[in-house]
Amino acid sequence: MTNPLVALEQRAKELLDPVHYDFFAGGAGDEVALTDNEQAFRRLALLPRVLRDTSRRSSATNLLGDPSSMPVFVSPTAFHKLAHAEGELATARGVASAGLILIASMAATVTIGEITTAARKVDRDARVWFQLYLQPESKVTEELVRRAERAGCTALVVTVDSPALGRRGRDDYHGFHDLPAGLYAENMRGLPGVTGSGVRRIEMSSDFTWDHLHRLRAMTQLPVVLKGILHPEDARLAVEHGADAILVSNHGGRQLDIAPATLDAMPAITAAVAGRIPVFLDGGVRRGSDVVLALALGATAAGVGRPVLWGLAVGGDKGVTGVLDNLRTEFENTLTLCGVTALSELDPGMVIARGAAAR
Ligand SMILES: Cc1cc2nc3c(=O)[nH]c(=O)nc-3n(C[C@H](O)[C@H](O)[C@H](O)COP(=O)(O)O)c2cc1C
Repeated sequence: MTNPLVALEQRAKELLDPVHYDFFAGGAGDEVALTDNEQAFRRLALLPRVLRDTSRRSSATNLLGDPSSMPVFVSPTAFHKLAHAEGELATARGVASAGLILIASMAATVTIGEITTAARKVDRDARVWFQLYLQPESKVTEELVRRAERAGCTALVVTVDSPALGRRGRDDYHGFHDLPAGLYAENMRGLPGVTGSGVRRIEMSSDFTWDHLHRLRAMTQLPVVLKGILHPEDARLAVEHGADAILVSNHGGRQLDIAPATLDAMPAITAAVAGRIPVFLDGGVRRGSDVVLALALGATAAGVGRPVLWGLAVGGDKGVTGVLDNLRTEFENTLTLCGVTALSELDPGMVIARGAAAR
């Protein structure tokens, strides 16, 4: 049985403008990191335990103090109005219905305030985090932070893997480098120096250092997650510089194509962080068993990017909830079949390389 996400993506591909489908689906360079993110999960196996009472286990957890119906979150992706007329509003409703945290992209096609409002209409306790690229002028960064705070976001996710944009062949081929007329990167509206659709201001500068994290810290009380960490030394530095969590990510293979699969980066990062802060992971998570593997290797939660876009394109908010609920069913089924009675039992001892002998 192939993953139903394959058919969902195929349906999305039929519905979407090919240029926009390629923007969502594509990666940098030869798309090695993009492919390898998914493959890395196939290289590992879980050793199940038997005859343990799994009937009372709960998947509910909390991430940085925010409730989440399972250890899964929705990673930030740009420009949802390219997938569906209601854009991020439908995504927010769909994610809130699933009881999960949405990390809203700074490059959203509706404002962050509209996103949090839409999520809270579904669930008063819905939580939205705001993904941010630090801006060359700190007063612009500060205004974005204030917008997120006013909207009621409960964490900032600072993407640090983009001192330049990855070379994405599919976008170059189509000449797709800006939003179509009528769409706008709404969070950028009215900021100093922003012209056109606002898209050109979305990258971070290449001259940022750990000092800029301290400046951000001084601006806000919100917890700060660093997204795009792959090197264990950077994970250690993130802890030392006061990050509240890190997100192990290669941007879904859209930045450095020669980067490792995120799952392969996990063991060294888990060792470096040594439990001092939560470690999240995204990239290639397509099955509930992928979430279990990520958690067993030390992740506190795993993020999904593209599958949510396919759900959105095909079925709006209901399509988004459908993708997430299916992931939950698979996640819980895997835990039960592995004999896991509590999420805290997941550890590297249950993971072996496929083809290797268990010890
Ligand atoms: C179409 C698209 C747009 C994205 N936009 C952003 C963004 O605006 N900010 C960001 O930090 N990451 C962005 N990402 C990266 C995702 O947050 C995430 O790291 C990645 O999609 C996870 O991999 P997956 O798609 O295999 O689940 C984007 C990814 C995709 C596919």
